[in-house]
Amino acid sequence: MEREIKIAPSMLSANFAIMGEELKRIEEGGADIVHLDVMDGVFVPNITFGIKMVADLRKLTRLPLDCHLMIVHPEKYVEKFAKAGADYITVHYEACGEELGDVLKLIKSYGVKCGLVVNPDTDIEKAEKYIPLCDMVLIMSVFPGFGGQKFISDVLAKCVKVRKIIDDNGYNCLLEIDGGINDETCVKAREAGCDVLVAGSAVFGASDVKQAISALKK
Ligand code: DX5
Ligand code: ZN
Repeated sequence: MEREIKIAPSMLSANFAIMGEELKRIEEGGADIVHLDVMDGVFVPNITFGIKMVADLRKLTRLPLDCHLMIVHPEKYVEKFAKAGADYITVHYEACGEELGDVLKLIKSYGVKCGLVVNPDTDIEKAEKYIPLCDMVLIMSVFPGFGGQKFISDVLAKCVKVRKIIDDNGYNCLLEIDGGINDETCVKAREAGCDVLVAGSAVFGASDVKQAISALKK
């Protein structure tokens, strides 16, 4: 069966001075999900934006807002991101450790879909027991912090493993991949069983956003 691929452009590669226009550009270009990279300068060596950006973008679109929290103590901010209008909140295993299950349940308690994220060097076995709680599993194919990095192919085996866990158990859970997705790596990600491809530079760096999104879907 052909899996329907969703494209989630990452606003990290947008021009922050004109976020509303950039959002419109990807919406008209056929984006399925809006990926919002929240970075705190502690969990990752970069700082982006936070709750107010989510709230302001919420007013401009009906597309699902996928908030990827690259922050320490994400549990402190879950309620605020939920109230700002997040549809998905994903949190790192590396930030939560064995509190991950509680954080995922906290996200769900606000009626928001939840997901776990693993860095390229984290074995999925460590976080596997939390997959039944998830609406999404996000596999990082670069080390988080910056757009425009090179895809780490080693993580494809992890995607295959998670795909199998989801399918074998009939979980209603999306498999998302983030980092270095372009015209070539999107094929590998699809073959490894991913449903949602996050793409920053490949979308915002293109002269024709619509064409870039449809190329990633094929
Ligand atoms: C990296 C972010 C990604 C990033 C992807 O920390 O989580 O979402 O924006 O950018 P590209 O597609 O350029 O690798
Ligand atoms: Zn991301």
